[in-house]
Amino acid sequence: MFQILHRDGLSRIGELEIKNKKIVTPVLLPVLHPFKTDPWISAIKQMKLGGVITNSYILKKGGFQKGKDIHDLLDFGGIVMTDSGTFQEHMYGELNAANLEMVKYQAGINSDIITIRDIFSEMDHSKGKIEEDIKENYNRGREAIAETGEYIALPIQGGIYPDLRQESARLMGSLDSEYFPIGGIVPFMERYMYSMVLESILNSKRNLRSSGVIHAFGAGHPMFFPLLFLVGVDVIDSSAYIKYARDGRILTETGTVELKSYTEELPPSPYFDKYTAKELSSLGKDEQTEVIGLHNLYVSVKELENIRQQIRSENMWNYAEYRAHSHPLLLEALRKVHEFYDYTEKFEPLSRRTPIFYSGEETLDRPNIKRFISRIGENPTGIKVDKKPYSYYVDTPVDYVQSQFGVVSLLLDETYPVAQSLFPGEYYDSYKDVSKFDKPEWQEFLLNKVDYIFNYQFGKKLYSMVDKRGITLQRSKNTGKIRNVYSGGKQILSLRASDGLFSLNYEGAVLIHSNFEYPAHRVVIDPEVTEFIREGRNVFAKFVEEADPGIRPHDEVVIVDRDDKLLSYGRVILNRQEMIEFRKGIAVKNRLKSDDSS
Ligand code: GUN
Repeated sequence: MFQILHRDGLSRIGELEIKNKKIVTPVLLPVLHPFKTDPWISAIKQMKLGGVITNSYILKKGGFQKGKDIHDLLDFGGIVMTDSGTFQEHMYGELNAANLEMVKYQAGINSDIITIRDIFSEMDHSKGKIEEDIKENYNRGREAIAETGEYIALPIQGGIYPDLRQESARLMGSLDSEYFPIGGIVPFMERYMYSMVLESILNSKRNLRSSGVIHAFGAGHPMFFPLLFLVGVDVIDSSAYIKYARDGRILTETGTVELKSYTEELPPSPYFDKYTAKELSSLGKDEQTEVIGLHNLYVSVKELENIRQQIRSENMWNYAEYRAHSHPLLLEALRKVHEFYDYTEKFEPLSRRTPIFYSGEETLDRPNIKRFISRIGENPTGIKVDKKPYSYYVDTPVDYVQSQFGVVSLLLDETYPVAQSLFPGEYYDSYKDVSKFDKPEWQEFLLNKVDYIFNYQFGKKLYSMVDKRGITLQRSKNTGKIRNVYSGGKQILSLRASDGLFSLNYEGAVLIHSNFEYPAHRVVIDPEVTEFIREGRNVFAKFVEEADPGIRPHDEVVIVDRDDKLLSYGRVILNRQEMIEFRKGIAVKNRLKSDDSS
């Protein structure tokens, strides 16, 4: 069972529980040769990795008998995933390993995640052949699930063909599994076809349920990790750490460096502490491979830790863009992601905790910026203001300013991303004349600001629902910024200083509920949990029955029962698709306070 703990767009920190063992995703499963585990397994434990992947074909051929436990052989108590021989066939040609035989064998050695014997879509396979093969893969998946009841991984194939990727995902996604490796991408990786890898992943992912665990098969170079996780991959496996080591190649998070090219210090690594480059070069081949391999694994694991941190900080776009600039083909891959706007946008929040750092023209193609631009529409010309927030640096409340996102209303000057972004040539200044906001024309400006932001955020003008003359604002003494909005003396909204968007109060929730038709801004819950929701408890995805398709992560929503009776209000973590499809984890953070409805 899989749940989302934190998210940043499509990127997500998840918790995967299999047979009472839990791992936090994104996670790297190092590829282990089942009979050559030394020294890797002790390093894997030292690095506190929760899972590994090994190969059942090699195990079976090597005489490891059903009935024995793979965890004992590896001396590893975490999650052990097994592959089926498909990759060996890709490498060495046809082999004798039938699907059910391999699946039952994996079950027989107590594998935690069992992979079917899928047919690998090679780059030179004809479209006709791949079409047949993905149907056959589907049949193999179906029989594996029917025969074993185990936790089965269903690889998505389809080669270079977008439509076949999609078809393969639809077929596999119709089966009762939650684990979907993206297969056949190793040849792309070897050719630096990162764009094709991401296209294959996105075409698969958008045809799978959002609660599916996405595993990128063999995508092992850390320079590619940020982009992989940006598009919502959850698991990767890698043998790169050892393969590269065999050739004397040292992994870094931005590329690969040959040992022989180091003339000074080796990169910082606990595994290189004892050696200069010269000393490492003079070691025997096996020992050298071991030292470099351990370092390579360490770099990969550290990069993964870093990525989890980037997701928690909601900084993945900044980070992935910055890292994509280390290789032209990574940049090409980043551009490919933007071709999937219709899909990626649904997972994009209106704002993030971190500001947008401009790193090049690709920045303006981010889905939440593109959506921002489409929501604000075409505007006439605006004046140029060289500091932010703009309203502090103009003498009179002008209508429009020329921002980096195009011409925007001055009324949006504090709202994400207008204020929360940094472009070359922009500076922030601590001087702010807040006294001017007491003047009548600026008072009017602030009242209009509330209306405008509300419309931008919820899609309807506030003053079409409540009388503007009854609105009062509470402002910060230091900054002059709007904090709380009252209508007829009752607090309805709070303006968040962090992103210039509103949080609902109880009366605001009542207002939304009575002025927007079902299903707008609503999450409908199972009657079983009505009382819990009224007590202010969070809404679990399992109990969501319906929701507004327009809801985006971190949106403000109202929580209703089947009869559209208002129960509470809160902030969502998931979009509609995720709320419906996930069976575990929090969907809405409830914000009802004990004195709210009294
Ligand atoms: N390892 C790397 N790629 C693949 C693939 O496409 N299928 C399987 N089963 N294993 C792989």
